[in-house]
Amino acid sequence: MSALPDGHVRVWDRVVRLCHWGLAALVVLDLVRDDGDWWHRLAGYVAVGVVVVRCLWAALHRGPGGWRALTPSIGDTLTYLRGGAPRALGHNPLGLWMVWLLWLLVLLLGLTGWMSRLDAFWGDERVHDLHAWLADTLMVSVALHVGGVAVMSWRWRENLPAAMLSGRKRPQAEARAERGRK
Ligand code: HEM
Ligand code: HEM
Repeated sequence: MSALPDGHVRVWDRVVRLCHWGLAALVVLDLVRDDGDWWHRLAGYVAVGVVVVRCLWAALHRGPGGWRALTPSIGDTLTYLRGGAPRALGHNPLGLWMVWLLWLLVLLLGLTGWMSRLDAFWGDERVHDLHAWLADTLMVSVALHVGGVAVMSWRWRENLPAAMLSGRKRPQAEARAERGRK
């Protein structure tokens, strides 16, 4: 993680930020324009591509956006919750489960969207129903994700969406000291 001249640290690199906001825009587009038309299918497949690129990027990098930091752990999650959910510089152990759920749902939507148009499933409503169910689950998950981001932003007096835009955060020691003063 690189320190910047103003004392902040660079947490999210350009690829992570671009993948995040690109994925968010594509998912919203597909949830709104949900008639399965050309744009819907294109946005859905590009969203799948974004998830794949993001995972490859994680495999090639270290730091908060890298693979090690993205590996969820039940032990870490319980320790995090027992410790009163302290501020995390990268993803917090609880939020990490949601990150994987969001990615998994997008991949499954791509798969079921593709399957729903195969001759083998012509007239079979089950694949379509599964696609619709996955989309509903994604919508609820996104709401929980944004809610979680809002709660942690308030709790830590830190604008997490702004950090996902700029890539920068206050270093850990400084954040701890500020919270101690409140
Ligand atoms: C982020 C990815 C995606 C999301 C969030 C999404 C979401 C949705 C939603 C909400 C619906 C309406 C379901 C309903 O009838 O209630 C739908 C329908 C559909 N989607 Fe997707 N989708 C995604 C990706 C894809 C992909 C990659 C394809 C590729 C072929 C696809 C093909 C279709 C088709 C054919 C329909 C059915 C339209 C109809 O006849 O009712 N989707 N999708
Ligand atoms: C459809 C909408 C969205 C999807 C699918 C989505 C998905 C994700 C994913 C996959 C990550 C992990 C990023 C990575 O490591 O590559 C993430 C992180 C994050 N998202 Fe979203 N997101 C969405 C909307 C939003 C919105 C609207 C906001 C702002 C209000 C937001 C704020 C954040 C923040 C701040 C993080 C980093 C969390 C942290 O500090 O640990 N997201 N999101």
